[in-house]
Amino acid sequence: MIEKTLVHEIKPQQDVKWWMPEYGFFGTFYMEGDNSVEGYLDCRKQNLAERTDMEAKGVISLLNLSPGSKLLDCPCGYGRHSNCLSEHGIDVVGYDINSVHLEQAIKNAKAKGLKTKFRQGNMLEIDLSAEFDAVINMFYSFGFFDTDEENFKVLVNFYNALKEGGKFLMHTDVNIPRIKSGNYKFDEHRELISGNRLRIVDEYDEATKRINGRWIIKEVSGITRDVDYSVRVYEKAEFVDMCRQAGFGDVKVYADWDGSDYSGDAEDMIVIACK
Ligand SMILES: C[S@@+](CC[C@H](N)C(=O)[O-])C[C@H]1O[C@@H](n2cnc3c(N)ncnc32)[C@H](O)[C@@H]1O
Repeated sequence: MIEKTLVHEIKPQQDVKWWMPEYGFFGTFYMEGDNSVEGYLDCRKQNLAERTDMEAKGVISLLNLSPGSKLLDCPCGYGRHSNCLSEHGIDVVGYDINSVHLEQAIKNAKAKGLKTKFRQGNMLEIDLSAEFDAVINMFYSFGFFDTDEENFKVLVNFYNALKEGGKFLMHTDVNIPRIKSGNYKFDEHRELISGNRLRIVDEYDEATKRINGRWIIKEVSGITRDVDYSVRVYEKAEFVDMCRQAGFGDVKVYADWDGSDYSGDAEDMIVIACK
């Protein structure tokens, strides 16, 4: 039997970049795809809440935060870390460009009686000066822009937002040595909490050092939604160098939230740079 499938591929206008809300990757599509039954990493089998809790606790311990510490979470998405950190007494500002994500973040904060603040804007244009003890950029959220100059500008914006002695943390689950050794999963299937299925197809382009990928959500009804993205992935040495150029002093790189040393085999890379 031929399966009846309607492929809904978003054809963006020329100036609409993949990360912009109107493109359709971030928003309801992303929030659905981010919530899977099996959890995120095969090795951990955690659901979204468990994963978020582990990551937020890791942020607190690696950055040595205490109640009252001022933290900028950018981009904050639908506020999973912002609100979790707020529950631990951290004074959080979540910053994101997507109003669908921010509305969900505010709704979740209200439901828990949290005072998390949220702001809407483009991380390329953040203009904050020496306000924060910490800035976090979580979960593969660096390198969205077309050029290295733009991506570097974001790093400088984070640097400027920090107080003297403040710390920046960048976390990604894409590690280039892991890609090169063939251990990175380029084709993944996940069952979603929504009941639909997600397929993630990634390709690493050695020339541009970008991952060009697609999320394909197949609905029970047979309808398929297929949206692409492209992220510049920085290797450890390259990112450390960028941090130094942005003005950061001490830079440390970890493999996991427990503070274990960075390794090329690790699923995660966590960089902490001190102003
Ligand atoms: C991969 S999600 C991660 C969100 C969050 N850190 C998390 O772990 O759940 C990336 C987020 O970046 C936001 N975003 C994309 N481009 C942006 C931009 N130029 N400025 C601010 N936020 C942006 C998206 O709306 C999305 O919420």
